[in-house]
Amino acid sequence: MFRDDFLWGGATAANQFEGAWNIGGKGPNISDHLTRGSKETPRIITPILREDGDYPNHDGIDFYHRYKEDIKLFAEMGFKTFRLSIAWSRIFPNGDEDKPNEEGLQFYDNVFDELKKYNIEPIVTISHYETPFHIAKEHKGWTSRKFIDYFVKYCEVIFKRYKNKVKYWLTFNEINMTMAGIGSYLSLAIVPDEDTVLVEQETELKDRLQALHHQFIASAKVTKIAHEINPNFQIGCMNIFAPLYPLTCKPEDVILAQYYNNINNYYCSDVQVRGEYPSYAKKYWEDNDIEIKMEDGDLEILKEGKVDFYTLSYYMSSCISSDPTAEKASGNFLFGVKNPYLEASEWGWQIDPTGLKYLLIEIYNRYEVPIMVVENGLGAIDKLEDDKTIHDDYRIDYLKKHIQAMSEAVDEGVDLRAYTPWGCIDLISASTGEMAKRYGFIYVNKQDDGSGDLERYRKDSFYWYKKVIASNGKDL
Ligand code: BG6
Repeated sequence: MFRDDFLWGGATAANQFEGAWNIGGKGPNISDHLTRGSKETPRIITPILREDGDYPNHDGIDFYHRYKEDIKLFAEMGFKTFRLSIAWSRIFPNGDEDKPNEEGLQFYDNVFDELKKYNIEPIVTISHYETPFHIAKEHKGWTSRKFIDYFVKYCEVIFKRYKNKVKYWLTFNEINMTMAGIGSYLSLAIVPDEDTVLVEQETELKDRLQALHHQFIASAKVTKIAHEINPNFQIGCMNIFAPLYPLTCKPEDVILAQYYNNINNYYCSDVQVRGEYPSYAKKYWEDNDIEIKMEDGDLEILKEGKVDFYTLSYYMSSCISSDPTAEKASGNFLFGVKNPYLEASEWGWQIDPTGLKYLLIEIYNRYEVPIMVVENGLGAIDKLEDDKTIHDDYRIDYLKKHIQAMSEAVDEGVDLRAYTPWGCIDLISASTGEMAKRYGFIYVNKQDDGSGDLERYRKDSFYWYKKVIASNGKDL
């Protein structure tokens, strides 16, 4: 049974739904330089914007101008919380200005006030693929220690400004994506010199780990500052968690799965929750001949800046095999091999509700801090019928099973506080840049060819989720 004050809601990110990319003083961020892709065509990072380029994040779904209408719909579903990110480049357009952009700050004041009208508690991601492009390009992103200062300054501004409007903050979205080797652009803001396929950008492991060290220090520093500014602030880490099962019970598979779970799933949260690097991290550096450059005091900073709670995104699980010929699985920036017992979404992501129960118990056993599931959902193609209805029973089925799994984990003693399914309103896909890959309870009439009037329509899942919230997760 879920707690009485369980936070039901939905999740988004500024870069994928706000639009208004060059309005209100906002500067371009890294997502603004990504072309539209599809299931078959990858997204391309273009350091110089192409004049005839198709950049879907520029317009998003225009939440910037429609936030009142959208929040009203969230309230109609009964949302208790809403996860959104602040677009860093709306506050510091280039990232290195002395003073923040007042119009950007005012926009989020308006959004938080609107949420307050309906008693919806914001959960704010501070960095979700919205690093100002200017500083990213100039410094090779987080590989530069200078980034810590930029980030701290940005956080101080928003913590003070929204001191009485926001309680829950998440420092870096899916910080551990870097460990899978594919977060160099979106997570670490490392801009390539020329046009590069998003998922093919390669950055040396030593640079990635160094950049990650800077993020850990930044996260710990701002956690401490946040508590000084407002002792009621709650700061969380955010991980993409895809449990990696051994493909077989062959001991080699089991050991390999254990190894990759540590490296991919726990490396970051072990630092952020426990306040120090785990012993296997040191072994990993040694094995890869890497020396992390640290400054005096770094280890104390990590200790002093432990997060208050743990959050994760969960879409799929994967398997690990010692057999190099095992068939690869696809997923959102992750890897592994196919699980013969699972079905997959149209994009090949393996659907595994039981995996959510399993990982919640694992994480809670490891850390014993409150947990929030701040992303989960099914990307699918929806059909808008002539009468403007959308029959997304496949989405209801997916979410129902995942909520059931969460409920079972709670019954096993897991301290779960919130559930915010991803893309509660249709938005731009991060991996493909498509509009066609929809997650929402609310359909947005916009297509990949640019057509559509942006009208919002309630899907069948909208009415279903409303009922789930009203019954605190009992009526599934
Ligand atoms: C997570 C990200 O990786 O998965 C989101 O935090 C993203 O930004 C979500 O949108 C779903 O992935 P996709 O590629 O289907 O949009």
